[in-house]
Amino acid sequence: MTAQMIDGKAFAANVRAQVAQHVAALKADKGITPGLAVVLVGEDPASQVYVRSKGKQTVEVGMNSYEHRLPADTDAATLMQLIADLNADAAVHGILVQLPLPKHLDEDAVINAIDPAKDVDGFHISNVGLLGTGQKSMVPCTPLGCLMMLRDHLGDLSGMNAVVIGRSNIVGKPMAQLLLNDSCTVTIAHSRTKDLPEVVRRADIVVAAVGRPQMVPGDWIKPGATVIDVGINRIEAEDGKTRLVGDCDTDSCAAVAGAITPVPGGVGPMTIACLLANTLTACCRANGLEAPEGLTA
Ligand code: GUN
Repeated sequence: MTAQMIDGKAFAANVRAQVAQHVAALKADKGITPGLAVVLVGEDPASQVYVRSKGKQTVEVGMNSYEHRLPADTDAATLMQLIADLNADAAVHGILVQLPLPKHLDEDAVINAIDPAKDVDGFHISNVGLLGTGQKSMVPCTPLGCLMMLRDHLGDLSGMNAVVIGRSNIVGKPMAQLLLNDSCTVTIAHSRTKDLPEVVRRADIVVAAVGRPQMVPGDWIKPGATVIDVGINRIEAEDGKTRLVGDCDTDSCAAVAGAITPVPGGVGPMTIACLLANTLTACCRANGLEAPEGLTA
């Protein structure tokens, strides 16, 4: 079997187009423009690239983008005051504090200072609890993007065996929760899992989110399974240059799987698209409107 490649780039463009359409309607019908505030503390190069990209795409779908860049030595009180101001600002519907924060700042305390209704990352303890109990919440962007692609490719996920490799708060745990809410039988595998290949071979759905280059080979994959590769790892290629690879060995997995997301161009583009979808959702809910179907969990 040769797997179908799931085109995350095209999928993300479609999500952005849907968001843009809803934003235009909100402006025309209600005079409301969704606004996203992104806070970056310090000069981490990768974070700067992400934040620039978020700002650009926010404006492209017709939303207002508010960027707050603070120096690396910003103290906790200053950052907390900014978050309090953004919580109180009616023009701001979504707040994202780019992680990682400099070491002297307590990430959990900062995330939990964000109004949960504006927590477009879905990292606030209230949103984690709401998701865990199957209630309406803000859902972390990367797992939301994976879920959208799985539903699109497979339809009803009910009864499927899903294995999530990785137990991070940002991807692994919320991904497992979303799959459980869609009635999958879910296993969370991690570095201490015994006989990982056998565990993965039982899966109709594999979500790999460990951050280890090409860790999952094709002979771990059940024939016809759907493989979602969340990894983005930079490795040195034979020609001395670097290239991006996922957590799965794409070529050998694609020879066995029914469908697989490539790296790059799979899950990656979906994260910012889902951030925009979450900002729209937060804006709708803040104004007593239902969030558009298909853009939430
Ligand atoms: N840093 C890397 N990924 C993310 C993300 O999804 N959200 C935030 N806030 N920071 C990140």
